[in-house]
Amino acid sequence: MTTQDLIKILRFYARFTPSYTKIGYMGRGLFWKRYATDFSGQRWLVTGATSGIGKGIVHAAAQYGAEVVAIGRNETKLKAAIAELPPAIAGRVTYEVADMSLQADTQRLVERLVGSGRKVDALINNVGMLYTDLTLTSEGREETFVINLLSHYLLTEGLVKGDMFNADAVVVNMTSGGMYNAPVGTANLNITDPAKYAGKVAYGAHKRGQAVLTGYWNKVYGSRGIDFYLTHPGWVRTPGVKSALPVFWKIQYLILRSPYQGGETALWLAATRPPTSEDHDAGVWFDHKIHPAHMFETTTPQCTVEEFVAYLDAELAKGQGGGETAAA
Ligand SMILES: NC(=O)c1ccc[n+]([C@@H]2O[C@H](COP(=O)([O-])OP(=O)(O)OC[C@H]3O[C@@H](n4cnc5c(N)ncnc54)[C@H](OP(=O)(O)O)[C@@H]3O)[C@@H](O)[C@H]2O)c1
Repeated sequence: MTTQDLIKILRFYARFTPSYTKIGYMGRGLFWKRYATDFSGQRWLVTGATSGIGKGIVHAAAQYGAEVVAIGRNETKLKAAIAELPPAIAGRVTYEVADMSLQADTQRLVERLVGSGRKVDALINNVGMLYTDLTLTSEGREETFVINLLSHYLLTEGLVKGDMFNADAVVVNMTSGGMYNAPVGTANLNITDPAKYAGKVAYGAHKRGQAVLTGYWNKVYGSRGIDFYLTHPGWVRTPGVKSALPVFWKIQYLILRSPYQGGETALWLAATRPPTSEDHDAGVWFDHKIHPAHMFETTTPQCTVEEFVAYLDAELAKGQGGGETAAA
């Protein structure tokens, strides 16, 4: 490592540590107004529900009275996450098993949810992974592309088009600081060439994609009364961080946020409903405030929002043998 690299790393931690760790959460929290967290009568869907932030949101939403459907790929872990709650609250949580790295499995999940006829008040698109090595799915895609973005698109579009959202529903998309490294574009969404794969580049592109979808969905579905938000959880002590960023984990471990703290702005958004925006560059909600959508040189998009959405539609159409889009 060169001295320049070291200075860059030190600058990064000096700039962001106070804000993104629990130091920022607790400091800002001193000035937050209390807000009503009564979600009783509401039905919530939370993806990535077996660990970290997703599990934190499942537990909190159920404690605040919601009926929650926890979505994960591992039934044993889903049952264990529910069993951690006191029995009266655990009774509010059911689960759905789906491997969201696969279009077919996510499509089946959509069909089960639509088939249940039970409308949804909140969808938390939380599932997300950062890999070091390229992994291809049995459907031939880079795995995190589907987990981080394509499955969110398929699930959300499937629920909207299946008329599964109640009036005044909310959708919260969990992004990351990775988006600050990527402009809007499709080139790095599905990197299947091992020679070109870089996990952080792919992750950044997916996270920027969530910003694109948030603005797009407000534009096309806002008139149905659904509010779409993009949120950043801060730096949170989760299994995902431990495995994806081991050095970061060692440096920050003691001051990382709890999973509840990481999910708290999502809960606040669902409870308070600040104004939404149809602009994908409107910003990201972090600690109850909207923050800029760009920090570095990423403001020049490589494609339009329409081209971005058409790319996802074309991907889903491929998975259906080139016919109608799966989301339709
Ligand atoms: N933690 C942070 O500091 C941080 C910072 C910025 C953004 N975020 C974002 O916050 C979200 C949650 O992150 P986290 O740190 O809580 O992650 P985590 O602890 O790794 O949890 C990820 C969840 O996603 C599930 N999952 C992974 N692959 C799946 C698949 N193919 N199908 C269905 N479920 C799958 C995992 O299931 P298993 O339990 O079966 O593995 C787990 O429940 C992500 O979108 C992440 O990008 C986190």
